[in-house]
Amino acid sequence: MTPAQSMLRAATGLSLSKSVVERAIKNRMEQTAVTDHDAYLEHMTPEELTALVELVVVPESWFYRDAQAFAAMTEFVRARLKADRDRLVRILSIPCAGGEEPYTIAMVLADAGIPPRNFMIDAYDISPACVERAKSGIYGRNAFRAQDLSFRDQHFTSDGDGDYRINDAIRKQVRFKQGNLLEFDLSTRSAYYDVVFCRNLLIYFDKPTTKAAIAKLAALLMDDGQLFAGYAEVPSFCQHGFSPLPYNQAFGLRKEVATPARKPLHTPRGADKAKPAPPRAARTIASPPSLPPAVPSSRSRPAAATPPAAAPVVDLLAEARRLADLGDVKAAERACRDHLAQHPESAEAYFILGLLNELTNKPQMAADYWKRCIYLQPDHYEALCHLALLAEANNDAAGAAALKARAARIYKRQQASLDAKP
Ligand SMILES: C[S@@+](CC[C@H](N)C(=O)[O-])C[C@H]1O[C@@H](n2cnc3c(N)ncnc32)[C@H](O)[C@@H]1O
Repeated sequence: MTPAQSMLRAATGLSLSKSVVERAIKNRMEQTAVTDHDAYLEHMTPEELTALVELVVVPESWFYRDAQAFAAMTEFVRARLKADRDRLVRILSIPCAGGEEPYTIAMVLADAGIPPRNFMIDAYDISPACVERAKSGIYGRNAFRAQDLSFRDQHFTSDGDGDYRINDAIRKQVRFKQGNLLEFDLSTRSAYYDVVFCRNLLIYFDKPTTKAAIAKLAALLMDDGQLFAGYAEVPSFCQHGFSPLPYNQAFGLRKEVATPARKPLHTPRGADKAKPAPPRAARTIASPPSLPPAVPSSRSRPAAATPPAAAPVVDLLAEARRLADLGDVKAAERACRDHLAQHPESAEAYFILGLLNELTNKPQMAADYWKRCIYLQPDHYEALCHLALLAEANNDAAGAAALKARAARIYKRQQASLDAKP
């Protein structure tokens, strides 16, 4: 890593490629009329660093992005107010980019008839330019990508030039501030928020930074609060003390402390029918070493792959999981291999082998196993998510984006077929 990459990582937490960093530096050198690269870095001021950070962040967002999260959040807020109608529900949106996410929260709650006095939203982003844009509340076409744009007529005023300004009733529900999640002062905010939105930030962090960020978020969230993540970020949360919530495509999580009773290894048939299944990405190794509790669902396997002697198949994989739960990675690997000796096309066994290798810091081996897994089962959502996260960690943004897009399509398809079942 170059000194400039290290400096920007220290300032933001972002894992940035050398080319992104060098492009930003070149840009700033041109703007500040500095010609010497080393001199530019040597004379770095806090103001100049802020300007440089602006060039490397990804402030991409839009209203009603991944809309199911807002519906799930509304359900939760309603339940809070049903228990105590005078309660003030505190919501955090970090990172908020240009305000699209927190304003969506405010619109959705207003539309659901939640009185303004019953909720407040704090919204933070590291980028001062984003925060200024959010405060201005003026948006162009790019912010309106949702199919149904009726919210725009209801909560915005057109300026006649193609831009729209958010109405004051919504604007006053949100307090914007510039801030770095990794430096968040917890002294007055410990267990302060009922709901936290932290979407599409951790995907840009490396593993240690992700862990540190999740620790901050866990500290900010009430023990019985709910957190909404980006879909590819769910596995990381599950590795660091969160459990998925059974909302459909909302990628909601709660702290494990709030749910002391873990699901049994063998979930009884039909036990999950009342609600849609959580994202399959949630079934991942927890920390300390612990494998996902559920036996792989037959839903995601092609019918032809189901072996006739089903019972021993499940037992060997379950045994691998049990051994891994006990921290016996070697024995777990052996159980997977025994299983593969009988069922050489078991995608799930390769998936577990990938997890075991990730756990023992062998990312390349893990990637090879997950690739084998999706070769055998192209719709293996979790393997795709893990590969996407690895690609991010390797600064392969294009590869990660392609894997995430594929995982998203599969996730949507699986949820749609689940929803269609009686
Ligand atoms: C892709 S946007 C996500 C916005 C929104 N949550 C969403 O999902 O649409 C990522 C944002 O993270 C911000 N960011 C990057 N590092 C940050 C940090 N350490 N703390 C707070 N915000 C950060 C960037 O400025 C950028 O606006």
